[in-house]
Amino acid sequence: MKQARVVLDRQYTIASVDERLFGSFIEHLGRAVYGGIFQPDHPSADEQGFRTDVLDLVRELRVPTVRYPGGNFVSGYNWEDGVGPREDRPRRLELAWQAVETNQVGVNEFVDWCRKAHTDVMMAVNLGSRSADAARSLVEYCNHPKGTYWSDLRRSHGWEMPHAIKTWCLGNEMDGSWQIGHKTAQEYGRTAVEAAKVMKWVDPSIELVVCGSSNRGMPEFPQWEATVLEHTYDLVDYISLHTYYGNRDGDTANFLARSLDMDAFIESVTAVCDFVKAKKRSRKTINLSFDEWNVWFHSNEETAAIEPWSTAPPQLEDVYTHEDAVLVGCMLISLLKHADRVKIGCLAQLVNVIAPIMADSQGGAWRQTIFYPFLHASLYGRGTVLQPIVNSPKYDTKDFSEVPLLEMVPVFLEDNEELTLFLVNRDLENTLPLEVTLGGFEDYGLLEHVVLRHDDPKATNTRNRPNNVVPQRSASSQVDAGTVTASLAPLSWNVIRLQRSDHH
Ligand code: AHR
Repeated sequence: MKQARVVLDRQYTIASVDERLFGSFIEHLGRAVYGGIFQPDHPSADEQGFRTDVLDLVRELRVPTVRYPGGNFVSGYNWEDGVGPREDRPRRLELAWQAVETNQVGVNEFVDWCRKAHTDVMMAVNLGSRSADAARSLVEYCNHPKGTYWSDLRRSHGWEMPHAIKTWCLGNEMDGSWQIGHKTAQEYGRTAVEAAKVMKWVDPSIELVVCGSSNRGMPEFPQWEATVLEHTYDLVDYISLHTYYGNRDGDTANFLARSLDMDAFIESVTAVCDFVKAKKRSRKTINLSFDEWNVWFHSNEETAAIEPWSTAPPQLEDVYTHEDAVLVGCMLISLLKHADRVKIGCLAQLVNVIAPIMADSQGGAWRQTIFYPFLHASLYGRGTVLQPIVNSPKYDTKDFSEVPLLEMVPVFLEDNEELTLFLVNRDLENTLPLEVTLGGFEDYGLLEHVVLRHDDPKATNTRNRPNNVVPQRSASSQVDAGTVTASLAPLSWNVIRLQRSDHH
């Protein structure tokens, strides 16, 4: 019989998790902003027009940071359009997504929404149609206390205190031909370094994310990263990675292996960062911001059929299946396994647009299947990642070989004396027996084993059946003197939580 074995030890650590690994993303796209976070005519809207049913779900996820306002949108955005009296704000043709942008939500409203959602803003500047000057004005508008043109303009708009936005993205996917102001690596490197320089002159406390390739399949990857970092190395702190996976051909075994591509992507970008570090004889290390990641493919045809130039059209409204949630679990494990270098992660996106949260304009909000692995990782993954030895049966697929049936990562939450094992069984048919030997945790007992499983891999949560795919308690784990034995259901995401037995 197939069985997986894991050995871990409290002393063998990878890194302490930066909580920003559980970030997300809201773009001015589809119904993410209008009809998602903001809908003044909705019964749940608060005095600022924010949907409180959506806010409740965002808070439940404990998202520490939200990237904004794009995405492709940011490459044509004039941030000044979204500040000041609402009645004076222009309606613009939004070229990236072929919609009409009303600008009823802008930087200040989004900052207020983030405060209500208990999260921080990760702000992107437009380096497509604009450049360093607009970027440094935005930093001054947001972060400078007072006494200058832009900071006093913010105050005159009603926001007396600076927004204190710490993390800033230098544009979005600038290697993509679909981007307004698409650039070569040399052009972008020069634009980014000049923007970075003046942004940090305005506020030296900010951190900057420079654009890496739009995905690992881009023709210039990874030379793009090397060239861009050669220009910007001394001024930036992170380089971005983006990836989306889909199961278009219905080959689920192959689809579930896609997180191996994510592993390889992270390891390649880390190598490029360290290559440039070596070349520059630098003592500084550039870390990774995986600021767009998810499953995205279900809605492609519906989105393509939408007529241009409406406001808040239902674009990119993927309805996620159980198997998507399992891959999202694998992707979270990939991020955690690389927590030594990946410091920021943004599940793209948060509401309605390829999102864990759906919000009906005429009704309520609900949790998609992918909500759950993200929730568990966010709640129980903020600790020290341990380096396990994993011995798993393997399988081959069209695009991958040696794919382990078991994907797993342990995270130790020292303050709570808690050890969490995040585990996926990729086997579509069979339960996977598991034994984990816990070095240094012999006095730990089982808190709970939570499993996300479903007999139908294509099962979804919808407005009529919002609780079709939900986590359940599993009775299939035992812990005895430092050994966990468990059975992992076919195609399942599992969270096994342990705690020191005499913890109070
Ligand atoms: O998240 C949807 C889109 O995917 C973003 O706008 C873009 O950056 C990426 O290509």
